Amino acid sequence: MSQDSSPNLSFEPWAPKDPDKAADQFHEIMKKRRSIRMFSSAAVDRSLIESIVATAGTAPSGANKQPWRFVVVDDPELKRQIREGAEEEERLFYGTRASEDWLRDLEIIGTDQNKPFLEEAPWLVVVFKVMKDDREEAISDRVYYVNESVGIAVGFLLAAAQQAGLATLTHTPSPMQFLGSILNRPDYERPYMLIPIGWPADSATVPNIQRKKLSEIMVYNQGAEQ
Ligand SMILES: Cc1cc2nc3c(=O)[nH]c(=O)nc-3n(C[C@H](O)[C@H](O)[C@H](O)COP(=O)(O)O)c2cc1C
Repeated sequence: MSQDSSPNLSFEPWAPKDPDKAADQFHEIMKKRRSIRMFSSAAVDRSLIESIVATAGTAPSGANKQPWRFVVVDDPELKRQIREGAEEEERLFYGTRASEDWLRDLEIIGTDQNKPFLEEAPWLVVVFKVMKDDREEAISDRVYYVNESVGIAVGFLLAAAQQAGLATLTHTPSPMQFLGSILNRPDYERPYMLIPIGWPADSATVPNIQRKKLSEIMVYNQGAEQ
């Protein structure tokens, strides 16, 4: 391949002096992440939200299509409408849509149809999947592996918020079409997740749940003891 058709750049790695220490420090920070449903009303600067969303935008994506949009909402009236829409869907979910198993699995989490945090958190980040490449310079308008790509970007966003000490919740009031209407998004943007972000309330509590041990989630090779 000629240089002209493949203008590669030299790669500048992030190279911590002590990779073990760097990985452990990051693990310590991420271990403290919990889904928070009780937020302080204290303000979070716009610059912090921009930094977190910028980190989400560094995620890998199928064919580099970056098929995500992060709509950041701090307008109280929009937050009120979003809460109203979410609570309507959640009333149906808890009342009729959810299976017995699902409701039993949720008991320990203690969630219900009431979502006051959607007005209490200073910011709601509404994540949309962008189902066509709408950039003028796009070679084609197709997008690939959208669910995987947006899921990874949301993971980056949650990690960036955690790094800054901010609390988040991955909220999925389903179906979520109401978000597109309230936020005036085009048809080819599909709501993916609703993430309140803010500082945790002083009185915040979290469900007493356990994480799987490393030995339960990780397998070396074909699974025989090494
Ligand atoms: C895809 C996804 C959807 C979720 N949807 C909701 C939701 O709609 N409401 C809610 O309160 N929590 C929701 N959660 C949060 C989970 O309940 C939470 O991550 C899980 O109980 C583990 O707790 P932790 O996040 O504190 O570690 C969701 C999490 C994920 C990853």
